[in-house]
Amino acid sequence: METAAITPTLRWTGDSIEIIDQTRLPAELVLLDVRDVASAVDAIGRLAIRGAPALGAFGALALVVGVDEAQPDSLDAARELLERLRHEIGDARPTAVNLRWAVDRTIDAALAAQELISASTDSDNGSAGSVAELRRRLLDEALAIGAEDAKACAEIGRLGREVLAEATVIATHCNAGRLATAGIGTALAAFYAKAAAGEPVRVLAAESRPLLQGARLTAWELADAGIDVSVVPDGAMASLIAEGEVDAVIVGADRIAANGDTANKVGTLAHALAAADAGIGFYVAAPTTTIDAAVPSGSRIVIEQRSPDEVHHAGGQRLTPEDAKAVNPAFDVTPARLITAIITDAGVLRPPYGESIAQALAEVEPAGSGTGRC
Ligand code: MRU
Repeated sequence: METAAITPTLRWTGDSIEIIDQTRLPAELVLLDVRDVASAVDAIGRLAIRGAPALGAFGALALVVGVDEAQPDSLDAARELLERLRHEIGDARPTAVNLRWAVDRTIDAALAAQELISASTDSDNGSAGSVAELRRRLLDEALAIGAEDAKACAEIGRLGREVLAEATVIATHCNAGRLATAGIGTALAAFYAKAAAGEPVRVLAAESRPLLQGARLTAWELADAGIDVSVVPDGAMASLIAEGEVDAVIVGADRIAANGDTANKVGTLAHALAAADAGIGFYVAAPTTTIDAAVPSGSRIVIEQRSPDEVHHAGGQRLTPEDAKAVNPAFDVTPARLITAIITDAGVLRPPYGESIAQALAEVEPAGSGTGRC
């Protein structure tokens, strides 16, 4: 069987997107070939592809798939199609800002470039040639988003290793690794960097009920990379932290508000509270593309509510009585005051986050660059 280290989480094949079907891990490594919008939206919805940065890279490529599928015969038809896809793909999951951001960036960049060309030539705006050019621009932008994410992950890993220099036993929640990005991950990038430097590292991966991204995905990719990983039931992590068994906690993020409040997989807040009580570091690792400066605080982040069936069932078996209901929020919000630092590709951000976040965004996006971040 191929390994996580050499099988990309997502890949543009030339005319489709190949992804690892993460619903099948760790039992089997199955690759899916996505070549229509319905399949792309379905893959996002059932978490065959997941993790904020990976959703962004995938959503951007799905726009190209959508153009190839619909084959618009004029630029006007292509523009109309893209406005439909902006919502169909961009809204497929609401909490991870990277999806919406990447879809908007890709469409806006391609349309802006096309308009510049149209304005500077007398070319026929309705010609199929123009549609081909628009498609090429969409693809270039989508591939750039993936490449930039891979670069951001490497930098987060480098900085994460520095921040966690004194930590050996480190807890994490959900999966913020290779399987969640177009690179080596965010939170898990720090583990890869520590291991590559020959530093000791023991990872405690919280299961992350109900879909078990920690137990299934983090454990799979870290074990595959030869990193010492133990799966811990979600409810057990707080007592391990309180007993002094954990040196630090590091997690990824789905959306970071302008004040530093951070949405991540449900259960993250419990780790942050336990870490604060025990006086150990609680770190968020995320690319600056996960920061949503348009959202002032965590109370304004939309939390995805998923099907109660995910709580009722595990491994195809009903766990709960037929009469019981279930509540299934996919994410929670950790207030900025519980976060020791946010490790980004633009540096390690410290409180007060309102200031450090604004400064980091100004550095990655000089005024007027027009890259379209929220
Ligand atoms: O529901 P998921 O599996 O998409 O949730 C993923 C997470 O919560 C990750 O921690 C987050 O997206 C960061 S991935 C680098």
